[in-house]
Formats: sequence, C-alpha cells, structure tokens
Amino acid sequence: MTNHVLVERPDAHPGVQVIRLNRPEKKNAITREMYAKMTTALTVAQSDLAIRVTAFLGTEGCFSAGNDMADFLAVALGGSMGREVLDFLRALAGATKPIVSGVDGLAIGIGTTIHLHCDLTVASARSLFRTPFVDLALVPEAASSLIAPRLIGHQRAFALLAAGEPLEAADALAAGLIWKIVDEESVEEETLSIAAGLARKPPEALRIARDLIRGDRKDVLTRIDEEAEHFAAQLKSAEARAAFEAFMRR
Ligand code: COA
Repeated sequence: MTNHVLVERPDAHPGVQVIRLNRPEKKNAITREMYAKMTTALTVAQSDLAIRVTAFLGTEGCFSAGNDMADFLAVALGGSMGREVLDFLRALAGATKPIVSGVDGLAIGIGTTIHLHCDLTVASARSLFRTPFVDLALVPEAASSLIAPRLIGHQRAFALLAAGEPLEAADALAAGLIWKIVDEESVEEETLSIAAGLARKPPEALRIARDLIRGDRKDVLTRIDEEAEHFAAQLKSAEARAAFEAFMRR
C-alpha cells in the first residue's frame, strides 16, 4: 500500500474527513489503488456518524493530472480495466453527505469531473480545469456528459469535454463550475473551514436540502455506466493506445 491517498480526520475540524491526493511527483495522477482507497473512504463516510462532510484536496500547485496514463496504457495493451474507477464514480455520485473540494493548480480529467459531484469547490486563481478526453481518443466520464451541459450550458460543456479547451479559474467561476476563488495559500484552510461549517449544521436537514438540490441520482448513475462502456471500448482502440504511448515517450 502506498500513501498516494491520505485519509485524515483533522482534530481542528470535527466531523470532516479529508481525502488528500498525495502523489505530487506524478502530479497526483490517480492509480487504481488510489481510486480504491478513495472509494473505501467514501463508503466509510456513508455509515460513520462521526463523519458529516468529506473534503477532497490535492497538493500545492496541483489537484490532479487525472487518471494515471500508465494504467490507461496497460489496458490499451490488453490488460483488464478492473472495477476501481467505476466503483469510485458510483460511490462519489451516490454519496449522501456533503462533499467539498479545494483546488490549487492543475485539475485534469477526473481532476476536473470530480468537482461536478462536489457541493462547494474553492480554487486558487492559478487553477486550470481541463479534460482532454477526445484528444486521448477517450470520451467524457463521471456523468460529466450529463451534468456539465446542465450546469454550464452546452457550448461551454462542449468546449471543455469535447474540444478539450481549458477553463481558467475565473472562467470556471463564471460558468458555475466552482463556488469561490481564494488565495492559493489558503485553499486548504478555506476548504476545511467550509467543510467544518457544514459539519456543524443539523445533519438531517442538510441531507434533505442536499438531496432536494441535487435531485434524483438515477440518471447520473445510468450515465456513468453508459459512458463507462464507451470509455472501456475506446481504451482498447488503436488511436487511444497511440496517444498513451506518445505521452509515455515524451
Ligand atoms: N499519469 C501518469 N503520470 C503522469 C500524469 C498522468 N496522468 N501526468 C503527469 N504525470 C507524470 C509525468 O509523467 C512526470 O513523471 P516523470 O517525472 O517520472 O517523467 C511527472 O508526472 C511530472 O509531469 P510533467 O509532464 O513533467 O509535468 P508538466 O508540468 O510539464 O506537465 C501535465 C503537467 C499535467 C500538463 C502533463 O503531465 C500532462 O499533460 N499529463 C497528462 C494529463 C492527462 O492527459 N491526464 C488524463 C486525463 S483523462
């Protein structure tokens, strides 16, 4: 087991569970093991009364460079995809307690789409959201093809998810993808203090409010599965393999 994902319960912020991406030497690229650890943390949060809010954080200057490219290449070369990514996406979309996130710097692929499942996201001004799915011969995931057009409109969703255009923090704020821009040195503290504030609220009222605001999750879970089928097929394509090999060769 690595410590590429740290799961913490900070004493200073009761009721908050932190899931921290902690692989800065690889820009917090997420491996199958990391997905599995995050899924376990989200599952624990569902039943543990002491956890009222989960907060996702990255490291200084980088939230995540997305799925690990070596893992993608392994699948393209004939390996199994495993269940880790899908299990994580289902746990994320099915979570019934609030999730917040703090971004400082790069947020690529799942590093962007994860926030579509968060209730409040703060980001530093230097943050950059980008999903180069199609450039990698892949397709959108995490139900982003459903949630993003609803949230930010078709054109911006298309620019982000299909054209691979980056969104700077100010544009992400204007689009409604994030809640607030904060100083880069206070991303973590702001995120935790927002999480702690939510953790102090009456949990049942907060749960109901969140449910009402988010609406029925069935269509989201169905879209996650639909996207995953296309994603799995594309991962095995010659064009995707060429893109992963090109990245690994750089
Ligand atoms: N998977 C695996 N390793 C990754 C990675 C990823 N998604 N993103 C970055 N890394 C690794 C690099 O290979 C490099 O490792 P090395 O030092 O052993 O060579 C290290 O992280 C630093 O990355 P580097 O590319 O040198 O940093 P950079 O600042 O020049 O560029 C990125 C950063 C994120 C823009 C660039 O690494 C990138 O485009 N990564 C791929 C992002 C992506 O397409 N993700 C999948 C989305 S679906």
